[in-house]
Amino acid sequence: MAQNVIDILKQEHQMVLSQFSELSSKGTSNREQKYNSLKENLMPHMIGEEQTVYPKLMESGMTDMALEAIEEHNAVKTLLSQLDGASTSQEDVWVAKLTVIQENVKHHIGEEEEKIFPQMQQKMGSDELSNLGSRYQEAKRSAMPVAAR
Ligand SMILES: [Fe+2]
Repeated sequence: MAQNVIDILKQEHQMVLSQFSELSSKGTSNREQKYNSLKENLMPHMIGEEQTVYPKLMESGMTDMALEAIEEHNAVKTLLSQLDGASTSQEDVWVAKLTVIQENVKHHIGEEEEKIFPQMQQKMGSDELSNLGSRYQEAKRSAMPVAAR
């Protein structure tokens, strides 16, 4: 039996938030490597949601929530691409940029966990949520770097 998609997503949210909190502290070692590791978790997570969870929301009468979530992902991706081009040598500036991304991600996770997941819980049966869980895992795997699959 596949895992409920909501349980999978909540676990991944915790992981990503803890990576953000380490990166937003001053004096963190191996900052570039940790930032790459954060992106290796965050990007496949977002792509997996966009390909499976959000279309399912649209089929289930939750279109506005899905559209807003997609725009929040787009904003995070834009901010990440800006940070990709920033040097880590000025730590204060780098951390300020990262902190803005962290705030966006926290807001987005809050919307998913407080608004979207409770409605999914109401509208979808446990078989549907498990089935969505396995489709999500599959989409996420395809979006991962080959070495991490
Ligand atoms: Fe999301």
